[in-house]
Amino acid sequence: MKFRGVRCSDLMMMLRLLAVAVVGGLSVASCAGQEPPPLPPPPIHRGLNILGSDPIWMNPAAGRFRPEYFATIKSAGFDFVRVAAGAMRYMDASDQIDPRYLQRMDWVVANARAAGLSVIIDEHDFQFCASNAVLCRRKLLAFWRQVSIRYRREPSTVLFEILNEPKWQMDPVWNDTIADVLKVIRATNPDRTVVIGPRMANKIQTLDDLRLPDDDRHILVTFHYYEPHSFSHQGAPWDPQWKSVHGQTWGSPGDRATLAADFDRMAAWARRERRPVLLGEFGAYDGSGTPIAQRSNYVDAIAREAEKHGFAWCYWQFDGDFIAYDVQRNAWVGPILNALIPGGASAQPAEKAPAKRVVRGSSQ
Ligand code: GLC
Repeated sequence: MKFRGVRCSDLMMMLRLLAVAVVGGLSVASCAGQEPPPLPPPPIHRGLNILGSDPIWMNPAAGRFRPEYFATIKSAGFDFVRVAAGAMRYMDASDQIDPRYLQRMDWVVANARAAGLSVIIDEHDFQFCASNAVLCRRKLLAFWRQVSIRYRREPSTVLFEILNEPKWQMDPVWNDTIADVLKVIRATNPDRTVVIGPRMANKIQTLDDLRLPDDDRHILVTFHYYEPHSFSHQGAPWDPQWKSVHGQTWGSPGDRATLAADFDRMAAWARRERRPVLLGEFGAYDGSGTPIAQRSNYVDAIAREAEKHGFAWCYWQFDGDFIAYDVQRNAWVGPILNALIPGGASAQPAEKAPAKRVVRGSSQ
């Protein structure tokens, strides 16, 4: 049959081609406006840094962190803790870690596990390492030799972080250090997730210098984000650059655009390298008089931006400074908790958290 001089079979072919072109065009159009593919998912999601400056390590009786806080953290909606372990000062002349320190670490790991939390063992002697890379490297290898063997039978919910915020003297030797430490860890923990960040205190700006073994896919790449320091570290007494700065605010459209652009940069790198990402530290100093509403606004913006990009995040920190939890009042700092876990368990006093089993740890 002919239709206005065109054979029906030809007409059908033309219609089919047109349909292919339309569908193809649509998919090109939708590709152009599409979100880029998601990053490899991190094995952890929302966390808190703990035990940064707690005397509990060598003097459990003086510790501020109570065993029931593991359950308190879990019931508030977090799924992991990052443990700041400064073990180097507790090593003897042959770099053996004091057994009491390791027993405390066992206690931390066992109680985190019992509460259903993943746990990152983070070697946190970054200040010492920054000013003595030679000794640091020796001690870091000794630390990981002992810790890797000790926790080799732990489940995958126990993660290792080679070194917090490598900087200064560590900068030029960081890639070699990563390779050496990974060799030690992989000898006993071939599949353990190892957390590693770029030099210069885990800043996004130095990501391109980071060398990771391409065939090791059990690496979680971390970065720390306190930008702008003029806001997050204003009035911080330990920081010569910002200790006398006050009255800084955050939250303008420009501030938010910078945050989004910085995280886009991190995500673009991770997508290219096919690595999951952990924002391992962020927060705003609490002792400076910066209004809590501003600090929580900042914390909320960063946590949400991280989630939007598919990054796990870990707030600095539970107790000590930047606090999320007030151990004196035994209660969450409501606005900070709500900024971290919106609509989650709100500012519940810790006493009301369900009692959980507390166990003594031994991983040897
Ligand atoms: C740093 C450190 C931490 C310090 C915090 C605030 O990056 O990892 O020990 O207290 O950030 O300055």
